[in-house]
Amino acid sequence: MFFQKALVAFCLFLTVSAVGPFTYNHSTFLLHGKPFQIIGGQMDPQRIPHPLWPDRLAKARAMGLNTIFSYVYWDQLEPIKGSWESTGNNDIAKYFKIAQEQGLNIVLRPGPYVCGEHEWGGFPSWLSEVPGMVVRSNNKAFLTASESYLQNLAKDLKPLLIENGGPILMVQVENEYGSYGDDHEYIGALRDMLKSESAFGPDVHLYTNDGGQESMIKGGQISGALAESDGDPKTGFAARDKYITDPSSLGPQLDGEYYVTWLDQWASNNTHQTDSGNGKSIQAVQSDLDWILKQNASFSIYMVHGGTNWGFQNGADWGDALEPITTSYDYGAPIDESGRMNDIYHAIRQTIASHIGSDNVPDLVKEEPLIEIPDIKLTPSGKLFDSLPDPVWKEFPVNMEALGQAVGFTLYRHVAVTAMNGTIQAGDAPRDRILVYVNGHRVGVIDSLYVTPNIVEVSLDKHDVLDLLVENMGRVNYGARIVEQRKGIVGNVTLGDNVLSGWQIYSLPLPSPPEPSPSDVELSGTSSPVLFEGHFDVDTVGDTFLELPGWTKGVVWVNGINLGRYWTIGPQQTLYLPGCYLQEKKNRITVLALEPTGQEGNVRGIKTRNWGNNPDPDGPSK
Ligand SMILES: *[C@@H]1O[C@H](CO)[C@@H](O)[C@H](O)[C@H]1NC(C)=O
Ligand SMILES: *[C@@H]1O[C@H](CO)[C@@H](O)[C@H](O)[C@H]1NC(C)=O
Ligand SMILES: *[C@@H]1O[C@H](CO)[C@@H](O)[C@H](O)[C@H]1NC(C)=O
Ligand SMILES: *[C@@H]1O[C@H](CO)[C@@H](O)[C@H](O)[C@H]1NC(C)=O
Ligand SMILES: *[C@@H]1O[C@H](CO)[C@@H](O)[C@H](O)[C@H]1NC(C)=O
Repeated sequence: MFFQKALVAFCLFLTVSAVGPFTYNHSTFLLHGKPFQIIGGQMDPQRIPHPLWPDRLAKARAMGLNTIFSYVYWDQLEPIKGSWESTGNNDIAKYFKIAQEQGLNIVLRPGPYVCGEHEWGGFPSWLSEVPGMVVRSNNKAFLTASESYLQNLAKDLKPLLIENGGPILMVQVENEYGSYGDDHEYIGALRDMLKSESAFGPDVHLYTNDGGQESMIKGGQISGALAESDGDPKTGFAARDKYITDPSSLGPQLDGEYYVTWLDQWASNNTHQTDSGNGKSIQAVQSDLDWILKQNASFSIYMVHGGTNWGFQNGADWGDALEPITTSYDYGAPIDESGRMNDIYHAIRQTIASHIGSDNVPDLVKEEPLIEIPDIKLTPSGKLFDSLPDPVWKEFPVNMEALGQAVGFTLYRHVAVTAMNGTIQAGDAPRDRILVYVNGHRVGVIDSLYVTPNIVEVSLDKHDVLDLLVENMGRVNYGARIVEQRKGIVGNVTLGDNVLSGWQIYSLPLPSPPEPSPSDVELSGTSSPVLFEGHFDVDTVGDTFLELPGWTKGVVWVNGINLGRYWTIGPQQTLYLPGCYLQEKKNRITVLALEPTGQEGNVRGIKTRNWGNNPDPDGPSK
């Protein structure tokens, strides 16, 4: 009896998996047996405050989308090796359930590498400290860590596969791996991990997503996973048809990342990327999407809503030098960082409606008004260097990860035992921005943002205090450099010919603001970092953009929440402050001024966002 039952269950299972609620033939996805085009957009829950998930998902649905593509950032879920933090903005399962309730399907992009212009492409920083680790490779240490991550994730998300009644249609293997390598054993190992019973199981539909060039699309492809392309759809679809011959990777075409515009990077000559207000560019987007839909093909708009790199979640690219991503991940998206639906949104909605019929596009979602907050007067509450945690004592510097720290700042302090002078060399390279102080006065800035970082000469007397405040500006998320992304100081500090020994090292990850010790604060061009504090009420709670006139560079917290970095050089000139982080009375704002000048003092909330650039006060040596 028992065996018979088991056999029946087994056969039933096979039948269901062969038919399945979601499947495809050579040219068409089939959802519940009917031809289905994925009309998708990317929107990552971990960049959106979770109280805003229903609003953002509803707006995506009302643009005509039927599917949300979502990266998952491993570093946020497993910040410490062996931990699992799946609450708040990391409650991916909850996000997917809300999406399903709103009539949206999901395509899951779990990495382990995702790029996404996120800190180290999603890798947790502790991977650096695991012996023998080589990320994105067929490396035992990396595969072991990845398997544990994918299994933990599957515990939360397997019940949400479409086969189990959830919204997840497909799961992506790695991300644009063909732009990086062509080790099919590695991609095969990840495929097998995802398909194993201890992860998503053998029925999960897998796909790979690569750039539309021969080396990329072939490099990323793996048997048993649909091969898809991203970027320009005409190039990508043609490349897929031409270069992929393995029948188990062929199927309907999907542009897995159709870019409306592009991301923003900090630099005094980078302007904000957007097509908004540019009719011609918007028409080009409409024409591309129209073409894809007429091919009976599928797409995902990258990003339909980008969100925010809260705290220090941003990654960096590497060109000739470090190109850190701004706090805002607005991405020129149809639903902007604050959830406003712009002209790009309405244009795309029209294009989609012309294919699926306007009756099939839900009504627009109401936009809550933005609020203004008049000048908030902030006063200095203390020096950062008077509010330090207990140090670790080391003969020679150790990197940030060795301290168990992922992001933020690390302060390295040395007290001179003898007079000396010369050029400061802090480890093998600046990682990334080093503010140099002697006896609390700033004497220079060494930054990997500059192709040729500044040369800083230091002269110390006996007992002088040398401070090196090292800021992680974002681990590289793309390209060959991702292999080695330790931060802080890696190697020795030399002053002229002298190796400096004897260090007090302070970890400053700063998820919440440091508690200031009141002290006399002098504000001049060479002051050490100063904490400012203010309080404010609002008439009505709502979204706003914080503007910091006269402030150079630093970090802002409101009611204890780290809103991210500000930096006068731009292009970002305002920080998004969502109403869900505010209350009517007694809001507390803390601003860290890394480079105070005496010009700072007020912060205000504005309704119309500013983008723009200012000269870099610390620019590279000429
Ligand atoms: C795929 O399925 C669609 C919808 O049922 C059908 O129109 C099409 O002919 C099929 N294509 C192939 C190659 O079987
Ligand atoms: C500024 O623009 C010039 C010319 O386009 C470019 O070479 C340089 O790399 C840019 N600098 C930064 C910091 O982006
Ligand atoms: C798309 O599908 C429709 C309806 O099945 C069909 O008439 C049309 O020829 C297809 N277009 C392409 C480019 O395959
Ligand atoms: C630097 O050190 C040398 C000796 O090593 C000394 O002669 C010189 O005066 C010092 N210069 C300064 C600016 O302290
Ligand atoms: C730092 O300098 C000390 C003394 O010269 C040396 O023993 C040590 O190996 C150096 N560390 C590194 C990482 O170069």
